[in-house]
Amino acid sequence: MSTPTAPGLPPLSEPTAWHTISLTVNGEPVTAQVESRLLLSDFLRTRLGLTGTHTGCEHGVCGACTVLLDDAPVRTCLTLAVQAAGAELRTVEGLTQDGRPLTPVQRAFHEQHGMQCGFCTPGYVMTCTALTERACRPDDDTVADELSGHLCRCTGYQNIRAAVRQALDERYGQQEETS
Ligand code: FES
Ligand code: FES
Repeated sequence: MSTPTAPGLPPLSEPTAWHTISLTVNGEPVTAQVESRLLLSDFLRTRLGLTGTHTGCEHGVCGACTVLLDDAPVRTCLTLAVQAAGAELRTVEGLTQDGRPLTPVQRAFHEQHGMQCGFCTPGYVMTCTALTERACRPDDDTVADELSGHLCRCTGYQNIRAAVRQALDERYGQQEETS
């Protein structure tokens, strides 16, 4: 008896479908053949060697795997590589290259000691980078909401919050001074 298959779906024995995707990664054009089921996190880490994007929980809870896809933070463990086709993708490796100075966000994490083991840091840095690229300073509730999607096992969060505050102050001016 043959295996039942939902209408419109290939039989279960069908080989994995492959797709050609083109996207921009850290300013460089990339074209690759990817399986339908390949996660964006695996594509970045194993195909492109961009291991700065960390994988922790691998089911959307910890935020360590966050990158910017068309300027928006996304969790690469919940995103398929094919979904990035045509997009402009930025990883932590793309923030500072070729000996250029740290970005204000990276510098803030360094100066405020916003990391210990550093496992969560790339995800935080990418989300914080997105927060500093808005037209106006995001309010405290928005910042807290976006940071709530990141977990850190080491720092107790105070220094991370201080780093984010420093980066936002540098980008938009201190809140007290602008009111
Ligand atoms: S590894 Fe993606 S959210 Fe934890
Ligand atoms: S610094 Fe270790 S998990 Fe955040």
